[in-house]
Formats: sequence, C-alpha cells, structure tokens
Amino acid sequence: MNVSQIRDKFIHYFVAKGHTHVASSPVIPQDDPTLMFANAGMNQFKDIFLGKEQRSYTRATTSQKCIRAGGKHNDLDDVGYTSRHLTFFEMLGNFSFGDYFKKEAIQFAWEVSTEVFLLDPKKIFVSVFETDDEAYDLWLNHVPANQIVRFGAKQNFWAMGDTGPCGPCTELLFDRGERFSSAKDPYEDESGERFLEFWNCVFMQFDKGPHGQVLLKKPSIDTGMGLERIAALKQGVDNVFEIDLFQNLIRDAEKILSRRYEDHKVAFHVIADHIRSLSFAIADGAILSNVDRGYVLRKILRRAVQFGRRLGQEDPFLHKMVLPLIHQMGSTYPELKKEQSHIEEMILNEEEGFLRTLKRSGGLLQKAFEEAKPKNLLEGEVAFKLKDTYGIPFDELALMAKDMSIKIDTEGYLKEEERAKEISRKGFEVKEQLSMEPLLEFVQQHGPSRFVGFDTLHTNATVIGILHNGQFVDTLLKGQSGSLILDETPFYAEKGGQIGDVGSISAFRVDATKTPVKGLILHEGTAEDTLVLSQVVSAKVDYALRKEIEKHHTATHILHWALQQVAGPQVRQQGSYVAANRLRFDYNAQKPLSDEELKLIERICNEKIRENLAVTTYELG
Ligand code: ALA
Repeated sequence: MNVSQIRDKFIHYFVAKGHTHVASSPVIPQDDPTLMFANAGMNQFKDIFLGKEQRSYTRATTSQKCIRAGGKHNDLDDVGYTSRHLTFFEMLGNFSFGDYFKKEAIQFAWEVSTEVFLLDPKKIFVSVFETDDEAYDLWLNHVPANQIVRFGAKQNFWAMGDTGPCGPCTELLFDRGERFSSAKDPYEDESGERFLEFWNCVFMQFDKGPHGQVLLKKPSIDTGMGLERIAALKQGVDNVFEIDLFQNLIRDAEKILSRRYEDHKVAFHVIADHIRSLSFAIADGAILSNVDRGYVLRKILRRAVQFGRRLGQEDPFLHKMVLPLIHQMGSTYPELKKEQSHIEEMILNEEEGFLRTLKRSGGLLQKAFEEAKPKNLLEGEVAFKLKDTYGIPFDELALMAKDMSIKIDTEGYLKEEERAKEISRKGFEVKEQLSMEPLLEFVQQHGPSRFVGFDTLHTNATVIGILHNGQFVDTLLKGQSGSLILDETPFYAEKGGQIGDVGSISAFRVDATKTPVKGLILHEGTAEDTLVLSQVVSAKVDYALRKEIEKHHTATHILHWALQQVAGPQVRQQGSYVAANRLRFDYNAQKPLSDEELKLIERICNEKIRENLAVTTYELG
C-alpha cells in the first residue's frame, strides 16, 4: 500500500463513519499567535474545541500538514538519528466536537489499525494516562492486560502548546521486535524505537490558560496518526525514510548530489526531510529570517546545507530538490506546484547567503578550534555561538571536534541552548485570556451583534448587555469602566490588525471596540453618567477618526499592490497594523528594497491616491 492509498483509506473509513473530510490548514497558522507552525491536526479546530465557534458538522477527518521544529513540539535535532522523527509530516486525524467520546474513539482506532491496515493485534500495545481507568477498561475489550501500559502526564497528557485545549490521551504502539531493542514492553523501551507510537488519541477535556485549566463544556476527541509511520509499518520497513515517497525522493537526491544513499543515509534523510519542511512552509507564505519562525526555517535550511557539504556539495543544491518533491506530493498539495519558482528562488538565495557566511565564518571556526586545542576543550558557550550565529549544527561541530581530538563542553552548550529556548519561549507567551464562557452563552441567547456601520455612523440602539470587572451587571455607575453590548451598532470592531472604532454611546465614552468571541461586538470604555440595561442610547462613532482609519486601511491595499509591481508578484502580506495616524505593513521578501525601489513605490502609491478611485467595501467573514 503506498502513501497515497494509506491516506485515502484512512479518510474513506472516517467519511463512512459520518465524518466530514476537511482540507489541511496551511502549515503557517493564520490567526493563532500561540503557534509557530501547524503542529497537529487539531489546530484548525481549536476554537471549536473551546466552544468559541460552531460548524455544521460535529465529526471531521483530515490529513494535516505539520511541522514540529519550534515551540512546544520540536523534533528537529532528532531527524536523521532515529527511525521515526521528521520535522515535516502528515497527520491523519479524526475529530469529534462534543459528539462521540472515549468508547467510539478507541473502537475506531482499533478497527482502522486491525481491519483497515491489518496490523497484527498481538503486536499492538496501548498506553493510557495513569489514572484513566475508563480508557484502560475500554481497551480490555480489544487487547489483553499485558499489552496495556500506564504513563504519566509527560507521555499521556497532550497539550497543543502552553495554552489551549488539552487532555489525557491513549497511544497505540506497534512492537517492531528485538532488532530494535531487548525492551520487553514500552516501560523498558526508553528510546521509543521498538514500540513505535503510530497513533495518539486525545480525550479533549480541558482548556489550559496561563493560570490553570478549566473543563471544556463538551468533551471531544482529537486523534493523530503519523502517515509516514503507518506507511513504514504497512510497507514492512524499519525507517520512515524507507517508505515509497521518501525513497523516490532520495533516488532523485542521489542524482543531484552524485552520491549513493547506501553510503550516506543520515545526510540523505536530513536533506529529504528538510526540503519538505522548507518547501511547504514557503509555499504557505513563510519567509526565512533572523526571528521567530523565520529563524527556525533558516536553521533547517542550514542544517540541510551542512549535510550536503559533508557529501562534497560546495555549491547550492537544495533548491534542486523542489521539483522532485513536487513530483511526489504536488498532486495532493497543489500549492507546491503553484509556488514552485518562488520556493526555488527563496531556497537558492538563502543557500547562497549561507555559503557566503560559511566562507566568512570559516576563519572563526578555525580560530575557535585553534583556541580550544591547548585546553583540549571547546567551550560550551563558543560552541553554542557557532551554532546559533553561524548555523553550524552541534553534531557538525562534534564531528569536527572528534576529527581534531578535541572535546566539546556539552553541558555548557546545553545550558546555553536552554537559556536561548527560554528566551524564545517567552517571546511566544500568550497574554491573559478573557473568560469566554459567559460571552459565548450571551451570543447564543441573543444572536450575533448587528453591525450597521457601513451604512451609518450614528444610530439609536438598546443596551442589551453590560460588563463590569468581567461580570454581567445591570447598571454601570458614573466613573466606572466596563463594556457595553448593543442590539445594533455602527462601531467597527478591531479585526485583522485594524484598530476598532472609538466614539460615544450616550454618556459612555468608547475607547475600543473588540470582538472577543465570534459574533459579539463589545464596546469598552468608561461611563460618564449612570447607564442601565435596556436603556435606549445614541451610539456615535468618532467620524474623523474612522475616516483616518479607513484611509490607512485603503493605503495598505495600495501599498500591497505597489509592492507587487516593484518587488514582484510573489509579495504577500504577512500582517499589518492599521490605526488612525499610521499603518504598518509586513510582507515576505528575500532581500531588502533598494532606495530606488522605495522611491518608486512611494511614487506609484501617490499616483494611485491622486487617481481618487471609488473604494468598494466587502465584508469578509
Ligand atoms: N493532537 C494529538 C497529537 O498531536 C493527536 O498527538
């Protein structure tokens, strides 16, 4: 069974069980600041699990593009050294949003494993969360007790990130036999190589916030089966890189690198994995840079280039792997084909840049080793700097050090790495979350707020909700701050980087307008006189400010267009901030704009503005 057939069989099974087939979300999350890359099938359903959003279906199935190379789930350093880790992989999943729970999830997982993929039931072990007797008992219907193990939170409690939906889980593990280790059960299998985890079923029950976790209203199911892992099991191979898709890719890599796979397996594995992460990330709009996810991608690229150099590649080669990848995956993921030249160009540029850096840092590398020689030790701090600044992977340094009979201070190195991780984690910490539950209930009761602000900036409306200190109240006293909800409102709420309207609602000064949950428009501000529920009020947007914001909004579109004219059609928006007095526009680029280009952009923007064309407004979602 090849990879495509396995993907199809999984999806078909769950569609036949009433699941809606949903397409993979982009590997670069669109509106989740807590995530660097899509790291699991459930990401795109996060708001449904949290009860913030509803869809027409309560069961779904997907094959999701995932990257685990930064943030909470990070496998980058393992790739090449184990038989099962990848930075990019496809996760097959079935999901229940308050529909079925543990019993059916376990039943489905068992059926798919043993009846669809025909795995030997005697070799399937399962793990459950240490206190989850219910899951344990359900599994007894399928496997004997000696094939069930219990683990603590590290292994059997799954969370998407530092915050978000989470819950205890049960994993399906396949015993690959003694050739992997003499461990008799998963307890003894420290490396995880013998008892291969191929499917994780999460019983989503909690929402983890910065100050603890609360129970989700509806217990749900989130599962993830590693497509490449099940393919390895089905195809009877010992390593995910030996499945059909990778072997085809590696055959092409052999031609490009003029080296034999048999002689350099680790390097081929690293290159085959990394080209997937890079290509999919770039196809979905990522850029390589020195910060956040751009930096992680840069590290991935450099690692691949370094392994290429071990095979004698002094010139850029990685970009040539894009086409072979398209041959393998382009029909399932057409975005690869569509963005081919853009991906190739970005990788080539980056390869050239890194090779230049290496040439420059060649001296420093040598210097670091020369200084290390008398002490016979390369300091951890120096090793980390070489990795972090020049992208020379630790294993590469270790190899060089070994050749020169020099030791590396691994402990010091790890300490530095931990410190750097801590810093990047902090950068990704989430701000305190509002308690959504009462707000959601409010929307359910009253329906979504009616926005009339495209037609008018001043209307009479009725106060249907008042919040003070996060609680619903009947009255807001003079001087108190809080939030108002109206039956209809001309106030535009903050959205997609555009700040919300300000203005007044009778004796209430509106400082900000927000949408904390879908469908709800909340006016935040201060009462200048007492306000009560059901009061009829006069809601008035600050016209001058709104006009300024609108102008800046239109300006972002003009700027985007002008950038595309000058820097090329591949320019895509990465984010923006639109306020009354300024705007910021983020976009992807391989090189900075020259002064001439900047002037040209300014000129054509101004020309467009002078044309004074009519602006058409569309309300999107
Ligand atoms: N979300 C779960 C995982 O990624 C299924 O393991």
